[in-house]
Amino acid sequence: MARLDKVYLGTNLKMYKNIAQTVSYLKELCELTKDIDRSKLELFVIPSYTSLDAASKHVDFNLIKLGAQNMAWEDEGQFTGEISPLMLKELGIKIVEIGHSERRHIMGETDEMENKKVHCALRHGLIPLLCIGETDEQKSFGLSDEVLRTQLKRGLHGVSREQAERIWIAYEPVWAIGVNGKPASGEYAAEKHRKIRDTLVELFGHETGSDIPLLYGGSVNLGNSMELMQIHNINGLFIGRSAWDAHQFQKIINNVMSIT
Ligand code: PGA
Repeated sequence: MARLDKVYLGTNLKMYKNIAQTVSYLKELCELTKDIDRSKLELFVIPSYTSLDAASKHVDFNLIKLGAQNMAWEDEGQFTGEISPLMLKELGIKIVEIGHSERRHIMGETDEMENKKVHCALRHGLIPLLCIGETDEQKSFGLSDEVLRTQLKRGLHGVSREQAERIWIAYEPVWAIGVNGKPASGEYAAEKHRKIRDTLVELFGHETGSDIPLLYGGSVNLGNSMELMQIHNINGLFIGRSAWDAHQFQKIINNVMSIT
């Protein structure tokens, strides 16, 4: 089955929800969405590190994939405060979020670091969910396309065509993310997703480049989710605040599934 026969819907819980809250959220989300055909939906949740263990014990992996918000690029060693891919695999984690804007812009991660993490995830059979996006300043200088192409070309440097078949990409304009974010217009998102798709085709050839799931993120909500999902080259949504209540997330999921 082609990867894009599915819709990709997921949430990053960031530094919210303790263990009990994460478990109850996941149980609720499993229950609310259990009747949706998973050959059409890839649903994923990315909790905090401390909740991953409990989450992995309570979630039905047939319904929801779990991801980690970050990962070291080495298997083990003197890396205080880092988490190894082996530790994530021990818990049944399938996805690793790499290069979220908060990692890049608050923690100072670079494209080179994201690239090492992408390779490490691929080496371990984890799905790298590489996040890219321009800042407000870069946008105002008319540099958005250059920034996106650079983040893709550097972040995916050395990735083979075969490996690219396991990658997911999230486009999250930095200015659209979080409480002060303003969602990208449908027109803007469409234009950037087309650029990203073209770059992926340039990097990996038509067949592979056209089949990489591209998710949009940044102030996605019930109101704009339908419009965004109707855009060509938007294959899924990566949601923060609007998905942190299971019932609210279910409404978005149902809406999106009703048009696919
Ligand atoms: P938001 O977060 O939906 O709350 O804007 C998106 C993200 O950071 O992935």
